[in-house]
Amino acid sequence: MCGIIGYIGKNVESVILDGLERLEYRGYDSAGLAVCRQGNIQSFKAVGEVSKLKRTVKFCDDFGIGIGHTRWATHGAISLENCHPHFSQSGDTALVHNGIIENFEDIKAQLSGMQYYGQTDSEVAAKLIGDKLSISSLRKMIKKIAGSFAFAAISKGGDSIYFAKQKSPLYIAKKDDGVMLASDPSCFAGFSNEYISLDDGEYGRVSISNLTIYDSNDKILQKQPQKLDFKFVDEEKKGYAHFMLKEIYQSRLTLENIIEKYSGSQMQEVLSQIKSLNFDRIFLIGCGTAYHAALIGQYYLRQAFCIDIYAAVASELQNECLPIDESSLCIFISQSGETADTLAALEYCREKGGKIVSITNTIYSTMAQKSDFCLPLCAGQEKAVASTKAYFAQCLILYIFTLFLQRKDYITSLKTFKNQIDYGDDFALGEIADFISKYQKVFFIGRGVDLITAKEASLKLKEITYIFSSAESSGELKHGVIALVDENLPVIVIATDEHLFKKTLNNAHEIKSRGGKLILFTTLNIDDDTAACFDKVIKANSAQKPLLPLQIIIQLQKLAYFTAVKLGNNPDKPRNLAKSVTVE
Ligand code: G6P
Repeated sequence: MCGIIGYIGKNVESVILDGLERLEYRGYDSAGLAVCRQGNIQSFKAVGEVSKLKRTVKFCDDFGIGIGHTRWATHGAISLENCHPHFSQSGDTALVHNGIIENFEDIKAQLSGMQYYGQTDSEVAAKLIGDKLSISSLRKMIKKIAGSFAFAAISKGGDSIYFAKQKSPLYIAKKDDGVMLASDPSCFAGFSNEYISLDDGEYGRVSISNLTIYDSNDKILQKQPQKLDFKFVDEEKKGYAHFMLKEIYQSRLTLENIIEKYSGSQMQEVLSQIKSLNFDRIFLIGCGTAYHAALIGQYYLRQAFCIDIYAAVASELQNECLPIDESSLCIFISQSGETADTLAALEYCREKGGKIVSITNTIYSTMAQKSDFCLPLCAGQEKAVASTKAYFAQCLILYIFTLFLQRKDYITSLKTFKNQIDYGDDFALGEIADFISKYQKVFFIGRGVDLITAKEASLKLKEITYIFSSAESSGELKHGVIALVDENLPVIVIATDEHLFKKTLNNAHEIKSRGGKLILFTTLNIDDDTAACFDKVIKANSAQKPLLPLQIIIQLQKLAYFTAVKLGNNPDKPRNLAKSVTVE
């Protein structure tokens, strides 16, 4: 899985590198590009981030034809050999691929006389398409492949980029003096304000003067471009050491953007239309952090309504035999709008007749396009892999949605919250980060909605610190997990609900009696005797009850951040992860 780009025009190397930087959220294990000029192909590759590739590239402003790739490894180690572009046997064809070729081993067994330099499924596609790149060789290749792909290929002496799409996104923008293909239309911002969206099974070739697209029945298609109403803002750190910290501190700004957007008539109209749909159950679906936002949405909606409301992990949705049909409202939550598991779940719900709503930060994303309605997050670009302000925004939109269905005023409540947001005491959080960075494992516990916050805080910690961490229900501890408690285990207790606090406190005592170290994150006012039970206490400002999970998560996000920095990790680009995982 990965991001791909193709470009025909001047300054090919710098245009491709710029595009790869925008696509880096799709993976940063390695990056590469190949450019054809005066009949020759030159390629550059680097293991690691696009910035490393940039240092190896020889720039040229002459006209050329190029393709580029940023990789999140699926098959084959993270190495230079496995870095794209991949080459046909003679090296005359170069190809980049996003997706997974499920039958690559069968194809490899059938292709005789090939020498492979790496272990990827994509290299097999390059060998299969062959040294003579044409529509016919492309067509033959894609008919043999099972799985998902977006391909872009160029050849020595050629004037075109050949492309094909199946389940992985691919878009084309064409002007008189340039052509661009990319996995994400954000690459087109600044280049063109129109683009063509390819559908599954489509393939073709594009040159400066010509664009030919075939459908899956090999018939030529005329596709109309759509408008790109989007300005790419390449965020800078602006004095912050990392994007993650900056993005945590953008929570208040995000809230302000949401208040502005959702008090306007346009969003009121969208919400009214969703409300008027005939539904009697709601599914909330996402992956990773977005799934935790789905759980928060489930909590809000279940408090308000007596209908079936169910939060599901996108990758498991199809295995759960859920009653999804024409009377289901299916809400998909995704920062990027490109996560493959979430998109597959969306297709599944659509086939079952469900009405589709997306909550996303990326309004031109595949998810937004495939939805009946889109509720934007208004969080601005989120660069750090670990989602912070987008999670905050996802929960807020679900809060707005719930209150709107109840015909309640949400704007006043959000305006009040704006002044209550508590970013915490860096010194105190830093001390706790120092403390937990010395341990091999950490547990988070909570009850009710605090268990959801525990899950999200635990995910943040493991994503960027690589410390083993687990979120457990306070009440469930004694049914097994307590066997793991000893003096080598810090347990972070999350408590924002005064009605559940007594029980949680009992569970904390059970941990303390077994030598566990206790850290409390709370919005409640606790007395000195209670505080004395804990090794450390973080007290955040109170707020309206439904917004307490948002108040407390900010400080837990910062805790994960400070711990990662303490351990010498780059919190913005944690190992093995991508901002959006575009394979199932
Ligand atoms: C990846 C990221 C997670 C993120 C998840 C969902 O797994 O590493 O941090 O929560 O994708 O991303 P989405 O863009 O769908 O919200």
